[in-house]
Amino acid sequence: MTLPRSRALVAALGLAVLACRASAQAEPLYKDKSAAPEARVDDLLPRLTAEEKMLIIGGDTDFSIMPVARLGIPEVRFADGPLGVRNWGFSPSYPSTAGLAASWDTNVAERFGSSIASDARARGVGVMLGPAVNIMRVPVNGRNFEYMSEDPYLAGIIATDVVKGMQEGGVVATVKHFAANNQEIERGRVDARVSVRAMEEIYLPAFKAAVQEGHAWSVMSAYNKLNGTYCSANDWLNNKVLKGDWGFKGVLMSDWGAAHDTLGVTNGGLDLEMPSGAFMNPKTLAPLLASGKVAQATIDDKVRRILRMEISMGFLDRPQEMTSTPKDDPKSAATALQIAREAVVLLKNDREALPLASKNIKRIVVLGPNADSYPAGGGSAHSQPFHYVSVLDGLRKVAGSKVKIDYIPGVGAELLDKWAKSSSYEGPLSLTFKGGTWQTGFKDLKTVQDARIDHDWSNEDPVPGVPLKTYQATWKGSIRPTASGNYTFVVRGQGGVFVSVDNRNIITSWFCGGDILTAEVSLEAGKSYPVEVNVNYDDKGSPAVQFGWGATPPLLTDDEAERVRKADAVVACVGYNLALEGEGSDRTYELPVHQPDLIRKVAALNPRTVVVVNSGGSFETAGWIDKVPAVLEAWYPGQEGGRALAEILLGKVNPSGKLPVTFEKAWKDTPSLGNYPGTNLTVNYAEDILVGYRWFDTKGVAPLFPFGFGLSYTTFHYDKMHVAPTTDGHWAVTFDVTNNGTQKGAEISEVYVSPPVTSKVMRPVRELKGFSREELDTDQTITITVVLDRSAFSHYDEKKGDWAVEPGIYTVEVGSSSRKFLLSGSAEVD
Ligand code: BGC
Repeated sequence: MTLPRSRALVAALGLAVLACRASAQAEPLYKDKSAAPEARVDDLLPRLTAEEKMLIIGGDTDFSIMPVARLGIPEVRFADGPLGVRNWGFSPSYPSTAGLAASWDTNVAERFGSSIASDARARGVGVMLGPAVNIMRVPVNGRNFEYMSEDPYLAGIIATDVVKGMQEGGVVATVKHFAANNQEIERGRVDARVSVRAMEEIYLPAFKAAVQEGHAWSVMSAYNKLNGTYCSANDWLNNKVLKGDWGFKGVLMSDWGAAHDTLGVTNGGLDLEMPSGAFMNPKTLAPLLASGKVAQATIDDKVRRILRMEISMGFLDRPQEMTSTPKDDPKSAATALQIAREAVVLLKNDREALPLASKNIKRIVVLGPNADSYPAGGGSAHSQPFHYVSVLDGLRKVAGSKVKIDYIPGVGAELLDKWAKSSSYEGPLSLTFKGGTWQTGFKDLKTVQDARIDHDWSNEDPVPGVPLKTYQATWKGSIRPTASGNYTFVVRGQGGVFVSVDNRNIITSWFCGGDILTAEVSLEAGKSYPVEVNVNYDDKGSPAVQFGWGATPPLLTDDEAERVRKADAVVACVGYNLALEGEGSDRTYELPVHQPDLIRKVAALNPRTVVVVNSGGSFETAGWIDKVPAVLEAWYPGQEGGRALAEILLGKVNPSGKLPVTFEKAWKDTPSLGNYPGTNLTVNYAEDILVGYRWFDTKGVAPLFPFGFGLSYTTFHYDKMHVAPTTDGHWAVTFDVTNNGTQKGAEISEVYVSPPVTSKVMRPVRELKGFSREELDTDQTITITVVLDRSAFSHYDEKKGDWAVEPGIYTVEVGSSSRKFLLSGSAEVD
């Protein structure tokens, strides 16, 4: 095994120093577990050589901090995050954090953090790359499923508890991506133009809470630019806000490859460049230190932060290695199940279509592309579970022997994978690569033969002599269908993607973000048709290319339609998956190919059709939602998700999740409309502080399902509200909630504050400032107190450069969603 350059050097240094100090000496202070961490750091820092200091601030082996063996500084391993421990084999996989936030459950958030910590420790991991707390600004952001909410308060509370749980479990939490990383399109180059007020009120509070209240030891800077400067080098963001205003004492690491120059990131507040010190290393830093452009104190501060984190977390005091091969852990599975039960949001339930609990329910048809799969988001957040329970498995397990579960596999996005591997052509395809630029023109580099179009060139050049960076690949061949009829062509690529059949363009996409594109053509049996597929890769997302074709399958065969018609209920499992929603590109707003048609068709056959959707956020519902009586938002519910869903569908568990994000009626209603994904690599956050429900309420736009909304199988009554000042200058909002329905269940009560009518500042109509989640038996009443401190009434005053409270009478409303207020009071604040 060859040691990486930095380790070899450190090992050599270690041997030399050991040889000089042969005789036993008293233990140095930094090794004394009982000494104060800062005193240990003071003692250790000067023992590192100048070179070691410049090496340790650049990541090692892609996912670790460099060890310094001679001093006993171990290698500290990292892992993604945030939904399970990726990188080191199979790992328990939890519901997406948008789902965690939908539970509004601080206890379960802490349990999630500590469960991940125990999974991480079992894999020798000391630093988790999560939680991710960016605000869900646009519904189609490919990483919304990893994020928590459109609301900074909810995201901040959940993130804080995740961080606490994780770090109490001995593992560093890394809050990411700092900041304004709210889209994947052009994430590596785009400049997010955001006002300071919107940063302070919307985009930063979740980070601030995780740092100040959760005491997160690590923060990851984002890929994008913020107001003209890359986040990794952004002095305002990193030095002024994070380290200055918030007093962050931990480590600011870069996202992988998010550093772009040495001087900028070194002086701009970055402490650790990941995955390696491409820009922060002895060779690049030494001349800057010599010329005085970088101060030694700046380097020392970075090293101090790394050592402080390592010492405070006990990494020098206990082994950091994996002791045995990790196993599927039933305790983690139980946590994943509990979160999934609380995460699912019942969006619609007309005519009491749910639960499927009556004696008349004897046969349930389950269908759709996500019925018998593991729906999860894609990218670095994807961890591979040891096992998973699909909705089909869950229903079979939970329903009992009296209910027959009848499964019909659906048609949908899975066509691509299957067809890319099985499509047949008349002989091999010719594949020609071109290289060049638009300025210099393109020339043919190479022509080879290809049997089919199913490639992932993520880790290699397509063929020798063809650089991956920007390739243009053209496949040419022909097909000869054996039967006449409609054929579907399906392709996925990044950049420009074009398909022609019979010399006619059927798919043309100049800027494809890895979406699956389909087209249908009518073909005759026995006739040969030329086919051409052209992909101009733009080096932005995955370089994978897939293409396939086949006879358009019927959405349902006659026999399947009959089974649907005769069933007592149908559960249609639709939505996205890791190929369709994930890191690196944004997804479509419409549900994937054929799914709306499938829902309509099934609903026409069977009125008791329940739709279960997997997604990171909202999606197009027009055209199908009115046709079905019940809809559940399942997010990506993790390895136990199918069981949780089955329990909810069958009425064994009462749904209690509430939306952490507004579901708009149509794309045209999204607050960022016209300001996403930006032009000329600039995205203007023109909606400013009016993100999510703040926009809908203030602009008077009716949402489809408002923020904070979710149905239950029981009902709750709200009563007896008081708002009173406390002796320590806060406000206590007290009210009663009674479960006056027929089943036990949990209710999330939400407290919103509206500015005084006399306010001279533009403020949202109302903002979430407190909440409570309580489990209630039938007829049980509970008195809830939510305490509001001064921050509940404040806004950020850009002129003063500080938070301010306008005196006046603030309205305080308590409700079961951001649009359903059951109690109201006021607080006169001076
Ligand atoms: C992602 C980070 C992730 C890192 C390491 C980056 O592409 O943006 O969230 O932690 O990769 O996998």
